[in-house]
Amino acid sequence: MDLINQMTVQEKVGQMTQLNIDVLSVGEVYNLKEPHELDPQKLKKALVEYGVGSVLNVGGHAYDLEHWREITVQIQKVATEDSRLKIPVLYGIDAIHGANYLLGGTLFPQPLAQAATFNPELVRQGAQITAYETRASGIPWNFSPVLDVARQPLWSRVFETYGEDVYVTRTMGVAAVEGYQGEDPSSPHAISACMKHFLGYSIPFTGKDRTTCYIPERQLRECFLPSFKDAIEAGALSVMINSGDINGIPVHADKAILTDLLRRELGFDGVAVTDWEDIMKLEYPHKVAKDLKEAVKIAINAGIDMSMVPNDYRFSDLLVELVNEGEVSMDRIDEAVYRILLMKKRLGLFENPTTFSSDYSLVSSDSFSRVSNAVAEESITLLKNTGILPLNPSLKVLVTGPTANSLTAVNGAWSRTWQGVDEIWDDSTKHTILDELKLQSDNITFVQGCDFDSLHNLGAIKNLAKPADVIVACFGEQPSTEKPGDIHSLDISETQIEYFKYLKSFNVPIVLALIENRPRVVRELEPYCDAIVLAYQPSENGTKAFADILYGKVNPSGKLPLTYPRYTNTLVPYDHNHTDKLHTDFSYNAFNPQWEFGHGLSYTNFTYSNLSVDTTQLAAGKIGISIDVSNTGDYKGKETVLVYVTDEVASIAPPVKRLRAFDKRLIEVGKTETYQFEIDLDDIAFVGLDNTWQTESGTYTIHIGNERVSFNLN
Ligand code: BGC
Repeated sequence: MDLINQMTVQEKVGQMTQLNIDVLSVGEVYNLKEPHELDPQKLKKALVEYGVGSVLNVGGHAYDLEHWREITVQIQKVATEDSRLKIPVLYGIDAIHGANYLLGGTLFPQPLAQAATFNPELVRQGAQITAYETRASGIPWNFSPVLDVARQPLWSRVFETYGEDVYVTRTMGVAAVEGYQGEDPSSPHAISACMKHFLGYSIPFTGKDRTTCYIPERQLRECFLPSFKDAIEAGALSVMINSGDINGIPVHADKAILTDLLRRELGFDGVAVTDWEDIMKLEYPHKVAKDLKEAVKIAINAGIDMSMVPNDYRFSDLLVELVNEGEVSMDRIDEAVYRILLMKKRLGLFENPTTFSSDYSLVSSDSFSRVSNAVAEESITLLKNTGILPLNPSLKVLVTGPTANSLTAVNGAWSRTWQGVDEIWDDSTKHTILDELKLQSDNITFVQGCDFDSLHNLGAIKNLAKPADVIVACFGEQPSTEKPGDIHSLDISETQIEYFKYLKSFNVPIVLALIENRPRVVRELEPYCDAIVLAYQPSENGTKAFADILYGKVNPSGKLPLTYPRYTNTLVPYDHNHTDKLHTDFSYNAFNPQWEFGHGLSYTNFTYSNLSVDTTQLAAGKIGISIDVSNTGDYKGKETVLVYVTDEVASIAPPVKRLRAFDKRLIEVGKTETYQFEIDLDDIAFVGLDNTWQTESGTYTIHIGNERVSFNLN
């Protein structure tokens, strides 16, 4: 508070301003001089004249550790030596699947794949490594995790989420926050998490990014809020606001969400930062402000603490004017600045504004990439297998398709560049899927055959396909995110369908591997595949896991964290209502996705038995559940038990079932494991007519595998 009392209005507003590093660099915004370097005059203007409190991102592409160190030291030097109050800068970055803007940083499978592990401990470890490598770059703030629940499979950012289920998103989100921040966020190995994008971003009605979401308050609370609530309880230090609107109200202008809900109800005391240019967007496209000045007023008064402006000084100038005119109160400004300074303190920036790369000997280490590979091993999901997998190394394999020999495809977006498609940033020491398959067998030939949207000359293929014993077709989609990732149909590209038909004409068994941002529809291909493996975007460190699974060195254990649709216009999540199942024949059997949420095969067999429910502690609000799972096959393997609960009759139409708990364990061949769960009555609640959580009396059914048991709650 002492510091705030010494600050001028300009200095306070400066703290609330976040600029893109391009604004501080030599060259034009989005067109910097290579190699990038900071411009001392621009630095002075930002940090000394304007007192800017935060900087973000990269000038278009990743940097090595030395470059990061140079720029973060240079920025902090000006801020802490030349500015009047010597306040360190808060640097923020999107390290969403590992330190993806650090050359040599350890890339992890994308968050959707991480969710498919159903192993929060792996998510936590991945976040710890990300924190270590990000701090090593002198950066203390990560715009991650995405806590949006993916309820619209078309959406371009599905791969950034933990899938369609509320409970999985909550669990993985907390693991990520704990991994990033550790016990003490000021530690040189920790960084601040940033929960995003608050709130209701991930169910755009049109399927396109940043378009309107229509969400009744009940669903907002039931589906989209819990992951943020849990992350706040886990201590997340910051939140980024949803760029879009809910029911026509832009979230950046919505005081009911930004202040009443986030602050008063959830008690969040950290920093709320806008998303990219989102105050400007209140003027256009949202059109709730007549000009930028009104937009600034609305957003700050609604509860925004920091504006990701990020490319000019108009926000700063206008906010100073608004304060001087009494349109924004000094109390509101002081509240925002207090939160920002508190976050800097919590991150230890006043004592240690920069880090020393020599203190971080584990950056890019094999031990880190092995953890990433372990995540891939547990995420890759075997969707279909007629018995061709695991492959016998003596089989002659033709590897083909646009994702087979591409590092950008396996890494996905947010990999060294925003969209992740520029191959000049590939790390040549890493292996594509093809490289890894070749390490497993001498019987591999390769021809790419097609791109995502154009066929190659097919002449060369015949001679390779005919003698092959099996074709491994690596399909999927071009990495992308946000607006560039908008699509009009969930169907896998027509070119790949056409190419598949050509491959099928050889009558050779086909293993289809899918490397994709979201569940692209493969209905036409599926009947002709002997096996289908969903690899998500496993990263350059997870291609080994893919090959190990294909050749049986690793038994797959990933399960779908979302419903895999069969049709592009039938996008129904697993926890739908009974009415959503009404068939044209008037039966209630219409729910028929390609694969259900939670589906994922193994090379062994797991048999479930003895589901029992202990209701003796019901009065204390507890339900005990136990089930035996036996490995009756020939491989040891990991099995995730998913505990679903159905509220049979409720005052609001209850969904068919909801995931309320899960656990994953290794089971040796011939052995039986007893999985035990304790569920609170609060965990089976729903948001009722008055928009509060309630657990109604009545009959509940527990489902695990094909087993089910009911109990009554009085
Ligand atoms: C994205 C955010 C991201 C921000 C900063 C925005 O366009 O929506 O998720 O954190 O850019 O890069």
